[in-house]
Amino acid sequence: MTAFTSIGSLLSTPVLEGQVALRGWVYRTRSSGKIVFAVLRDSTGIIQVTIKKGNLPDAQFEEAVAASIESSVEVTGTMHQDGRAPGGYEVLATSFKVVGPALPFPITEYQSEELLLDNRHLWIRSREQTAVMKVKATLLAGAREWLAEQGFTEVTPPILTQNACEGGVTLFKLRYFDRDVFLSQSAQMYLESLIFALEKVYSITPSFRAEKSRTPRHLTEYWHLELEEAWTDNEGNMRIQEELVSAMVAKALKERGAELELLKRDIEPLKAVQPPFERLRYADMIALLRDKGFAIEFGADLGAAEERAITEDKGAPVFVTNFPKQCKAFYMKEDQDDPRTYKCADLLAPFGFGEVIGGSERETDLAKLLQRMEEQGIPQEPYRWYLDLRRFGSVPHSGFGMGVERMVKWVCNLEHIRDAIPYPRTVARAYP
Ligand code: 4AD
Ligand code: MG
Repeated sequence: MTAFTSIGSLLSTPVLEGQVALRGWVYRTRSSGKIVFAVLRDSTGIIQVTIKKGNLPDAQFEEAVAASIESSVEVTGTMHQDGRAPGGYEVLATSFKVVGPALPFPITEYQSEELLLDNRHLWIRSREQTAVMKVKATLLAGAREWLAEQGFTEVTPPILTQNACEGGVTLFKLRYFDRDVFLSQSAQMYLESLIFALEKVYSITPSFRAEKSRTPRHLTEYWHLELEEAWTDNEGNMRIQEELVSAMVAKALKERGAELELLKRDIEPLKAVQPPFERLRYADMIALLRDKGFAIEFGADLGAAEERAITEDKGAPVFVTNFPKQCKAFYMKEDQDDPRTYKCADLLAPFGFGEVIGGSERETDLAKLLQRMEEQGIPQEPYRWYLDLRRFGSVPHSGFGMGVERMVKWVCNLEHIRDAIPYPRTVARAYP
């Protein structure tokens, strides 16, 4: 049996004596007469394979001449230094075999965004997409590692729910046998219940938002990292966030330098992502925005333009705290020092990337919760279980939700959030 070596390991530890065997897909190819230069791609990198007539059986040489882009192939050969080849090495083939031939590939160099999205199942093979997926996996691994070190337990909340955690406007309703349920917008309420057993919990689940707006930062299905901790106030909550975000970024810098370079991500600003992050009160932010010419009043929610204005000259993420109550959900804790506001914070990524996390201390006063629900016309029945949490050993607690694709968009410096997920779901698209 042949032992295949990955392209990445061949390039990092070249094998300059004896034969090597590799397999992958034809990334690009050109031939002239008696020689074929085929660049092969696998999950770890690209390398040039040079196929010379006479070095291998003629039938195999003809196979190499005919091998189209994205055909899967197996090659053996000898490895040599070559300054002109990508990575500085080439493999001189002694055997060449097409395993799965490819029809003419529908994606060529300059393509419309629509065509790329229609062919997403093929486009995800691109080097950029591959790099983004690796960075994303490393960010998630970094989060899980850090959270385990801090004593958090990963839990698995439901996706089908009767609760509208983030309000009725963006709910996807689903027929569930003889009644209606919703696709989860947030695991928060379930996480709140789980802290009574585990104290420090988090989950990584899909969340769904029926977002009608087409923006570069909204998906209808996204991955949500949510955390809830007992005995923690809003300040403690922000400390967890700044340390978690910094640990995730540090892990990506440590392990995904090559991918970030391929994505042309300037890593200097990422190195500046270190706790503590700046805290800016909403009211002070309004004053700042007014100085910048925004006609914005206390009470208005932040749009992308406002977030951009706040963060475009920041080098590191910034918390905006104490939003007015009318901007935020009913479950947040009132700030006794400024009862117009909640003890909450949004974390905005720098350079205009905007909100990546929303979080707060949670209201523990049952009467206040009931009053707000009444005012906002929220029915009590579906939340009976949630309100029980305030009746049976209620405890101060806080938590937050991080948009994983928002993090990826920022860390990889992507223009559009759809490139932070292999199969983006938006108002315009649920195929492929
Ligand atoms: O600010 P949001 O709506 O907060 C909540 O859902 C809380 N219940 C979370 C919690 O405290 N457990 O959403 C949290 C984060 C946002 O900061 C944003 O990063 C991301 O989720 N997000 C989206 N990401 C992509 N597409 C969308 N449509 C998103 N909506 C929110
Ligand atoms: Mg939010």
